[in-house]
Amino acid sequence: MASISLSVNGKKETIDVQPDTPLLWVLRDTLGLTGTKYGCGIGACGACNVHMDGEVTRSCATPVLSCDGKSIVTIEGLEQNGHLHPVQEAWIKEDVPQCGYCQPGMIMSATALLKKRRHPTDADINDALSGNLCRCGTYNRVRKAIHLAAKNGGAQ
Ligand code: FES
Ligand code: FES
Repeated sequence: MASISLSVNGKKETIDVQPDTPLLWVLRDTLGLTGTKYGCGIGACGACNVHMDGEVTRSCATPVLSCDGKSIVTIEGLEQNGHLHPVQEAWIKEDVPQCGYCQPGMIMSATALLKKRRHPTDADINDALSGNLCRCGTYNRVRKAIHLAAKNGGAQ
């Protein structure tokens, strides 16, 4: 067992776990943050995406030991003071999700992209979200929502 300290959505957490436990299971099972989804478990689908020190990170393929001292943001951490993130607002406006399973990971990729590029092109979006798989094929609406969020200050 190892004692790991990390910040999750701005809150300091210290947990005692096996050091090779994937961050995904610490988030979901230890901390109860079930917005981050398990898709493939092998770093291939993006359903488990979170931000680690601002970078998109596959939580299923990230041993929690490597998160010691890091700052993690999950889908639950995007809302600020009761207000949804502009990307989440745009998602609702464009009615993006179908089954919804891939969507938290998509949104985490989208928010990270908008921090780097305030007004991304379709090509930028395709590139940044190329590792996010959606079996329902919501890609067109995802692009529309990211453009709308960019217009509405989505880089916050
Ligand atoms: S569940 Fe992590 S990339 Fe698919
Ligand atoms: S909305 Fe169903 S997998 Fe993407």
